[in-house]
Amino acid sequence: MAAIVDVASVAENRRNASSEPAARTIRLWRDRVNNRLEELIRADEDACPTLVEAMRYSLLTPGKRVRSLLALLTALDFGRDPRPLIDFGCALELVHCASLMLDDLPCMDNARMRRGQPAAHIQFGEATTTLAAIALLNQSFGLIASSATLAEPVRCRLIARVSQAVGTAGLVSGQSRDLVERKGGLDSDGMARINQQKTGVLFELAVVGGGMILDLPDERLEALNLYAGHVGQAFQSADDLLDCREHSKHSGKDCGADVDKAGSVHQLGETALRERLQGELARADRRLAQLGLDRSLLRAFVLSLFQRLV
Ligand code: IPE
Ligand code: IPE
Ligand code: MG
Ligand code: MG
Ligand code: MG
Repeated sequence: MAAIVDVASVAENRRNASSEPAARTIRLWRDRVNNRLEELIRADEDACPTLVEAMRYSLLTPGKRVRSLLALLTALDFGRDPRPLIDFGCALELVHCASLMLDDLPCMDNARMRRGQPAAHIQFGEATTTLAAIALLNQSFGLIASSATLAEPVRCRLIARVSQAVGTAGLVSGQSRDLVERKGGLDSDGMARINQQKTGVLFELAVVGGGMILDLPDERLEALNLYAGHVGQAFQSADDLLDCREHSKHSGKDCGADVDKAGSVHQLGETALRERLQGELARADRRLAQLGLDRSLLRAFVLSLFQRLV
């Protein structure tokens, strides 16, 4: 099976990416995120049990936890304690999970599998899935607003950023464009805009929000934002590449579903998509180097992600 990322070009980085101490650290913080998510979605006696079951089913099935880890690893890379960022990271996972549940609905991507199990709408029906997604999205704002680990002024700023990222110029717009602009013969900029809005915004939010909690200076936040934008573009390209392969066993989701989707292998061709991915990863690396983070956990984690996706 051909690798998505050119093996030679990442050989040196790959040693770093798969280094045992980095992998152990990433596992440790992923476990902490998972534990906190489990605490957050407990049945309460006033909640409809079916709704809570659908929320738990979708959220607690292991995902890669990319967005929360990007936030927590930002803290570690700047020599800071990531624990105050855990609730923020979990809020990102709530938003992300809601977006996946809606994305899989028959009126959207009509997907049947998610995270290696039947998609939520197959298991619980469309109505419960839609309501459970709204509940998760709503909880993400409540979580930031009430997190005991965040100072009050930063909570408000984070909520405003989350609202911006999810909102009409962010994730929902990207998802909407993905539906209405597909088949439209989009150019490269049009495709990049969809990828930035539907996927990149949460990557950017993860590192910038993390940086805001750490009180990093504006120029660092800006550099982190640019870095994460490139990672988000690369991530969506890798995801689109995977769709055309026999990988459902590894990806845990439907394959071959993107035939008419802008930016898919079917529209762009594998070579162009692969070049796009490589270019974005190289740009991300340059941004990290500017931040002095060229041997960082962030870099190790991102590279390990692309190894996993191959
Ligand atoms: C899937 O995201 C949606 C895309 C942006 C391509 P992930 O690949 O991070 O999904 P999980 O959270 O690991 O399931
Ligand atoms: C959509 O991209 C990403 C979001 C849910 C915002 P895809 O539709 O390609 O994601 P997958 O492949 O279903 O995870
Ligand atoms: Mg989609
Ligand atoms: Mg989809
Ligand atoms: Mg996809």
